[in-house]
Amino acid sequence: MQKTSDLIWQDTQHQVLFELIERIKVVPFDPDILIQLKLYAEHHFVLEEAYMYMLDFPGTEAHVRAHDRFREELEAMLDTDPTMHETLQISLSDFLYKWLKLHVLGIDKQLEAFILETNAK
Ligand SMILES: [Fe+2]
Ligand SMILES: [Fe+2]
Repeated sequence: MQKTSDLIWQDTQHQVLFELIERIKVVPFDPDILIQLKLYAEHHFVLEEAYMYMLDFPGTEAHVRAHDRFREELEAMLDTDPTMHETLQISLSDFLYKWLKLHVLGIDKQLEAFILETNAK
């Protein structure tokens, strides 16, 4: 994935998330990947949200709602059959990849710009 942020912590964490999402496609399917993705996504969202609350970011509510939707999607995916078919792995991975790409190049850029204007980076 291209560079997503001038904040090193934010870009590094995004890259890890994209890598985990890519690994959903690996055959045979490893159900642990979804657990790792869920844990790492939570770690990342909590950090972004901590910055939002600490800096009183005006877009906090909408941003947290977007994170919550992703949390719900991941939770639902954890029920996925571990022997899932390869085409399902690909569609799951593609869906998450597109969602994350849209998020990091959209709403996350607003947060990045806001943080960069402060001395909190
Ligand atoms: Fe992010
Ligand atoms: Fe975010």
